[in-house]
Amino acid sequence: MVFIWTTVKTNPGEIEGVGDNMINIRTKQEIEIMRQSNRLVAQVLKRLREVIKPGIPTRELDQIAERSIKEAGAIPAFKGYRGYPASLCVSINAEVVHGIPGSRRLREGDIVSLDLGAYLNGYYGDAAITVPVGEVSQEAKKLLEVTQQALSKGIEQARSGNRLLDISHAIQSWVESFGFSVVRDFVGHGIGRNLHEDPQVPNFGPPHQGPRLLPGMVLAIEPMINVGTWEVKVLKDGWTAVTADGSLSAHFEHTIVVTDGGSDILTLP
Ligand code: MF3
Ligand code: CO
Repeated sequence: MVFIWTTVKTNPGEIEGVGDNMINIRTKQEIEIMRQSNRLVAQVLKRLREVIKPGIPTRELDQIAERSIKEAGAIPAFKGYRGYPASLCVSINAEVVHGIPGSRRLREGDIVSLDLGAYLNGYYGDAAITVPVGEVSQEAKKLLEVTQQALSKGIEQARSGNRLLDISHAIQSWVESFGFSVVRDFVGHGIGRNLHEDPQVPNFGPPHQGPRLLPGMVLAIEPMINVGTWEVKVLKDGWTAVTADGSLSAHFEHTIVVTDGGSDILTLP
């Protein structure tokens, strides 16, 4: 996927860089509404983490996710998005993202990424976690730990006055210091009235580049990290991205809002 360095923002009218893409600045009221869809996503992921055990078919996780979102009066955000057939993405082991739930059962030792989106009161929420199934290898444990920490490192850089790629750089340097690699073909994104808004949020790049971050920008930051090569390929189903070398991959995602002093994670249960 090509991504574009358009570096523009709206609302307080301060414009930097070139291009005509907009980064929306959300009001306090909009953030409170966005907190609801994002909190719901976090709550459902928490529930899924609890039901994960060896033997469960991934379709069952999708059904729980879809039911929980609908019961809360929300709409699953992924189902039908560009033709995606489910509410949840379930990506196991070498699968990076966009795994389609089905009859495959989780097995002891797997790591499984769960990515979920919800639409509620006009705004989207989006988050992902990667969960160990029973006891997993040392390598898998390390990958989960480093990927989750990479997300935290990125979020730490999401503050007013920093530039977008400060987030990207923090993630990349953390991950590569452990010998793991950052997926290039998929990136994080702005989110709000649409599931995907500007800017794209890569998990790699040089520091001090890109648009300046301002309070009210809402970003879904989502490092996808591989044990081996960063390269991925998409399976014949047209969705499932897997590592090119078959190595393990992990994925964590939070939706955050840039605030005056730093940032606020919206995807907390
Ligand atoms: N978190 C992913 C993203 O932001 C999930 C999208 S899955 C899709 O792209 F099915 F909606 F494409
Ligand atoms: Co996302």
